[in-house]
Amino acid sequence: MKAAVYEGPRTVTVKDVPDAKIEHPCDILVKITTTNICGSDLHMYEGRTSFETGRSLGHENLGEVVEVGSAVSKVKVGDYVVLPFNIACGFCKQCEKGLTNYCLTMQPEPALAGAAYGFAEMGPYQGGQAEYLRVPYGDFNALRLGEDAVERQKDYVMLADIFPTGYHATEMAGVGPGDQTIVYGAGPVGLMAAYSAILKGAGRVWVADHHQDRLRKAEEIGAIAIDTTSEDPAEVVKEATLGLGADNGCECVGYQAHDSGGHEDAALTLNGLIDSVRFTGSLGVVGVFLPKDPGGAKAQGKLEAEGKIPFDYGLMWFKGQHMGTGQAPVKRYNRALRDLIAGGRAEPGFVVSHELPLDEAASAYEHFDNRDEGWTKVILHPDGRR
Ligand SMILES: NC(=O)c1ccc[n+]([C@@H]2O[C@H](COP(=O)([O-])OP(=O)(O)OC[C@H]3O[C@@H](n4cnc5c(N)ncnc54)[C@H](O)[C@@H]3O)[C@@H](O)[C@H]2O)c1
Ligand SMILES: [Zn+2]
Ligand SMILES: [Zn+2]
Repeated sequence: MKAAVYEGPRTVTVKDVPDAKIEHPCDILVKITTTNICGSDLHMYEGRTSFETGRSLGHENLGEVVEVGSAVSKVKVGDYVVLPFNIACGFCKQCEKGLTNYCLTMQPEPALAGAAYGFAEMGPYQGGQAEYLRVPYGDFNALRLGEDAVERQKDYVMLADIFPTGYHATEMAGVGPGDQTIVYGAGPVGLMAAYSAILKGAGRVWVADHHQDRLRKAEEIGAIAIDTTSEDPAEVVKEATLGLGADNGCECVGYQAHDSGGHEDAALTLNGLIDSVRFTGSLGVVGVFLPKDPGGAKAQGKLEAEGKIPFDYGLMWFKGQHMGTGQAPVKRYNRALRDLIAGGRAEPGFVVSHELPLDEAASAYEHFDNRDEGWTKVILHPDGRR
């Protein structure tokens, strides 16, 4: 079968790899019809993680079940399913608490927790930017879709990661009706956080970034754009709130945060968030930060390469703020968010700018990585559709 394979920094090739197959009685095999490129893939693509060469990428996957293991009882061949990027067992100490983002069973390294498809430090699993995907514990991990699945893949595929992740950011930030919320980053995740805040009835939502095309998407859903090439988000928000700051905020950028000139500083958005949010407000940080960044020494410094990021903890403490962090537990939200889509209340597919066949993955990665004008979110179709 064909898959998009990481072959070293800024090199992805679509090539033949061994066929995905059932390896355990609880597995299901899914023929992937829609699979996204994510900002998380870009950390790997740029060589800024430990991701091994020769592995396939892709953790935002949707497709049709073509085979089920002998112990699978709920999921059936022919079902359309969307797979949380987290791979979880459903029965470990963490999964029992709903923390499928830190499953202990699926992560083979005892010192770590959490697993995902085609992801650095998250187990040996192959990615879904491929014709087929092996899904462990299919009954637990697959979310079945309704009759409109095929026509509305563009919306439903966002349940694999970015819609629940954006929603999770707003949960950690405690966004509620009437709140004034600031989101750092107008990438797909930031847009989903803003969209989630608006769905929850936030009174005012700002989105800060330096890419105009992405900011326009934020405005389309009713958020207020802050262009960081000319404005300081904390100043804008404070001026609009009698100097108090936003009620809460979301970080949707991660450790490769940079200024509009491209100069990287992993503390930039954290500090901005702490400054922008009022005393006792909460911060939801879903942008990825890592304990090791192979390119960090060159891009930022020795400390940052070890994930030791000096940020304004003093001010955060002084303001009595709370911060939530980490990978999102997709399964906590995906069923409810699916039903919002099915009921016509949410259309997260608005972020999609490009639908391409899997064969065009190499150039799609290049454009998305450059944040080229208009390349907001790319979805790939391994069945060749556009
Ligand atoms: N926690 C999770 O479960 C989870 C899930 C998915 C993605 N992520 C992470 O979320 C982050 C965003 O993902 P994405 O797909 O939107 O990525 P992306 O790279 O497409 O978007 C990031 C955006 O942040 C902007 N940005 C950079 N520096 C900035 C700054 N200083 N201020 C404001 N904006 C700035 C960029 O211009 C870009 O538009 C990544 O770190 C990704 O790995 C986390
Ligand atoms: Zn993702
Ligand atoms: Zn588990």
